Amino acid sequence: MSNFVVAGNPKSTSMYKCWLKYYKLENKKLSGEYKNLLKSIVIKENTAITQSAVNELKRGLAGILGIRPEISEEPAKPAFLMLGTLSGNKSIAGLLGREKQNLGEEGFIIKLLTENEQKQLLVAGKTDRGLLYGVFSLLRLIQTGTGLDGLPRIENPVNQLRMVNHWDNMDRSIERGYAGKSIFYKNNKITGNLARISDYARMLASVGINAIAINNVNVHKFETLLITDRYIKDAAKLNEIFRSYGIKLFLSINFASPLSTGELFTADPLDKEVRKWWKNRAEFIYAYMPDFGGFLVKADSEGRPGPFTYGRTHADGANMLAEALKPHGGLVIWRCFVYNCLQDWRDRTIDRAKAAYDHFMPLDGAFAENVLLQIKNGPMDFQVREPVSPLIGGLEKTNQVLELQTTQEYTGQQKHLCYLVPMWKEVLDFDTCAKGRGTSVKKIISREVFKNKYGGFATVTNIGDDTNWTGHQMAQANTFGYARLAWDPELTSEEIAESWIRLTYSNDRILVDTIKDMLLGSWRTYENYTSPLGIGWMVNPNHHYGPNVDGYEYDKWGTYHRADHKGIGVDRNVRNGTGYAGQYHKEVARLYENVETCPEELLLFFHYIPYDYRLKSGETLIQYIYNTHFEGVEQAEELKRKWESLKDKVEEDVFGHVMERLEGQITHSKEWRDIINTYFFRKTGIPDELGRKIY
Ligand code: GCU
Repeated sequence: MSNFVVAGNPKSTSMYKCWLKYYKLENKKLSGEYKNLLKSIVIKENTAITQSAVNELKRGLAGILGIRPEISEEPAKPAFLMLGTLSGNKSIAGLLGREKQNLGEEGFIIKLLTENEQKQLLVAGKTDRGLLYGVFSLLRLIQTGTGLDGLPRIENPVNQLRMVNHWDNMDRSIERGYAGKSIFYKNNKITGNLARISDYARMLASVGINAIAINNVNVHKFETLLITDRYIKDAAKLNEIFRSYGIKLFLSINFASPLSTGELFTADPLDKEVRKWWKNRAEFIYAYMPDFGGFLVKADSEGRPGPFTYGRTHADGANMLAEALKPHGGLVIWRCFVYNCLQDWRDRTIDRAKAAYDHFMPLDGAFAENVLLQIKNGPMDFQVREPVSPLIGGLEKTNQVLELQTTQEYTGQQKHLCYLVPMWKEVLDFDTCAKGRGTSVKKIISREVFKNKYGGFATVTNIGDDTNWTGHQMAQANTFGYARLAWDPELTSEEIAESWIRLTYSNDRILVDTIKDMLLGSWRTYENYTSPLGIGWMVNPNHHYGPNVDGYEYDKWGTYHRADHKGIGVDRNVRNGTGYAGQYHKEVARLYENVETCPEELLLFFHYIPYDYRLKSGETLIQYIYNTHFEGVEQAEELKRKWESLKDKVEEDVFGHVMERLEGQITHSKEWRDIINTYFFRKTGIPDELGRKIY
């Protein structure tokens, strides 16, 4: 990124660099120690990925330590940094000794060696991907002013697939994108700025991302043709860039492609001709991209075509694609976001929350070995608060990918600060009780529990062509945090925030603590002034921004929240509700079933509650709604005050940019407060106990 000229405000180049800013390290002592060790770099291997690693070191060390290391195959100085892989350099095995057994395919080690009292540093991976991750990790250590005392450091990613999903369309728009236009497409062509895409690949690899789907899951006319000769060569160019950073490229496909391309009259997955069509298609794709990752599929969901048209199941559909990809080592990632958009909620037994489980649970074990089911973290759709999808913990014999949403569709659209890592941590730590207590989501996704062949993380990315990539600069913390969690779900929200801040801004203690505070409380703040206690939605239709209690487009009967003059909430228990709570294992189901035991933050998701019901705090429900909405606005104002205190500690343009967003957030939070509070005041006629103005 250092050599890359950025369009637009040239001052913004530092935001463009994200957490790879490589600014000068202030700590002179440490800087001296590192300089000594790193002036000479020894590497014998030469692959596209090892080249990326060496280039990154050059860039990073020039910025952080102000040195230009000599690169050679043999040591040029007594102190040096040795880079290598177990698979490509025999001497690495000797240097590692027994530690090599602890290295997984993508793992790395950073170790100090001492020969004749001379210190040397070793960064090694089993493969060149591991080496690349090791180099990025070393640069992070140096930039954050971490000494060498903590070595050796051995890391293996906990999760196998660490993926980002782009919802980019070829006309350059991005579905649910809040950071400008697509970095890949324009005018229905792949025309992205290759230098920028390469910077993007670096950014992803720096935090361990190893897979990317480059087009929207809603595959429209032109995107359908990505797997044809119209676009395949250009897609292969992108693949080459991502390959050199160890990232596998996937494409979202249109299930009806054989029909939509005009080549067949059916897309029936059990039809011989259709199967042949996909086999040929796979061969065609792999001829251009021998390491192609596979297909991401949204089928029979929100108007997308799928196997239901032919009376077939999701397993029939997915397995047909899997069969075509199998000889090439490709994967089918099949999404579970399937529900009936137009359900009539006056029928109180139908519940959208139940849909994914109802569709996919009966198919557990029916999917081919190279099919992975991608499951949204909650049963609805990325609301600010949802329970964990019961499919995770339900499915045992199926490869699973946890789908998160980094793009802030329902969480402030990158206009509001909302650091999502604490929310994701709650999801990952949630105990599904699938195999008794302690069967957390993270253990299922990492395959520790069910030992399926594949598993991992995917997120709907927040990246666009805004100079700072994410719209709100601080939303970069979510991009970073997602990837760090996918690498290691044991990292805490605090640790992730702290390293992001140090890499992005500086190591100044006051700055680090202040921004950490801002990030860590921001999800709760956003929740406070938006929809309460897990009820969700309450947004304007279609674009989903801003308050509108009855607004959501599929909420035709105002029944997503079921508010009336007496109470609010959806009975999802088994006894007298939709039965959704019964989809969980019994320990969890029991908890959700009853008002008394249901975790309060999800109370309205699971139960219809009268407004005069007293919460554990002693407040009535209606008073809680008022209180949290006033409090949320105060917290938004506090964010601004905190940021103001850092005026002299951050670059001027960064300061101004974030300030502008925080001011907008305050205005919007007031709108939320007033609309929500007024709605409930009108519904109930109950005034605020503290006499604050609410209408
Ligand atoms: C949400 C979102 C859509 C998206 C869908 C999905 O409903 O609003 O834009 O297509 O999720 O996950 O497929």
